[in-house]
Amino acid sequence: MTIKIGVIGTGAIGADHARRITNTLVGAEVIALTDVNLDSAHKVKSDLGLNAEIYPDGHDLIARSGVDAVLVTCWGAAHEEFVVAAIKAGKYVFCEKPLATTAQGCRNIVEAEMASGKRLVQVGFMRPYDSGYKMLKDTIDSGAIGEPLMIHAAHRNASVPEQYISPMAIHDTLIHELDVFRWLLDDDYVSAQVVFPRKTKYAHSKVADPQIVMLETKKGTRIDVEVFVNCQYGYDIQCSVVGEEGIANLPEPQAIVMRKNANLGQQLLTDWKDRFIDAYDVELQDFIDGVTNQNLTGPNSWSGLAAAVSADACVKAQESGQIEAIELPDTPDFYR
Ligand code: NAI
Repeated sequence: MTIKIGVIGTGAIGADHARRITNTLVGAEVIALTDVNLDSAHKVKSDLGLNAEIYPDGHDLIARSGVDAVLVTCWGAAHEEFVVAAIKAGKYVFCEKPLATTAQGCRNIVEAEMASGKRLVQVGFMRPYDSGYKMLKDTIDSGAIGEPLMIHAAHRNASVPEQYISPMAIHDTLIHELDVFRWLLDDDYVSAQVVFPRKTKYAHSKVADPQIVMLETKKGTRIDVEVFVNCQYGYDIQCSVVGEEGIANLPEPQAIVMRKNANLGQQLLTDWKDRFIDAYDVELQDFIDGVTNQNLTGPNSWSGLAAAVSADACVKAQESGQIEAIELPDTPDFYR
């Protein structure tokens, strides 16, 4: 059985997902495309040699009877509208993060999905599909380090453009950590605080950089994440889980260890796209398999809502300088 997929938004990640469905993954085919910039949809069609129809609008694409599942890869502001429309049409939908740009938008999606009686949505949080994070999760779950007490983490980019402003450190950068720590710890957050160290001279005027975000979970685990988006030296993701009986560290990406010019070293990545490149393949294959088996198991709408609520509290904490509560109801059985 081949799952027929329609893609809404054929920009950077939409085109890349269409490529991986066509050239790398199994069990699915892109048969429909749309973008507000129709030239972009036509380009993806011709670049990949797709036998696909181009639709003037995402709603026309969702309504098409031959489309089994929808990829929502347009700008965040349009996600909610298309995800809700896909749910109402009874179609599976993979939505890139953010699920919606507001917590209320995520709630609307959760309500629509629960009303449909069936899990139809997977959110594009790909870190749970990364082999390093999976090893870290297996280590925690095995009890090898005892109960996790603390996480020290860092999300560093070499540099960001001038349009990057302080809240983006949360909504665009930290958002992946907010999702992955909940999954790693099987726990929810109760509060957030943000503190600002001395600002780097490499940061533009509208971004405080670096920032340290501190989170507390229901079980009392404390997390500190350094978000440093002008670190200059590379793209670097660190995660160290301190348990009662040991420490488990996220493995570094594989790289050749070289001896040269009186140096012993390894090259670091500089482009974030390369860091989780395999995880994107695995997450989308999992979506295709989930649609085929009528059983989605990846990051769900509740994960999208939890990330949005937590991100809002972090932005509030950036502004207030206070510890801000993160209030999220217990995960409904529907999403367990
Ligand atoms: P992009 O700007 O390259 O592409 C977005 C495309 O959506 C554009 O071609 C635009 O014309 C189209 N579009 C906007 N509104 C539309 C509408 N109403 N209907 C149809 N098409 C519409 O952006 P990019 O980088 O591809 O990001 C898209 C989404 O994917 C964002 O939500 C972003 O946060 C997410 N993303 C997730 C990543 C991850 O690591 N999981 C990585 C990169 C992006």
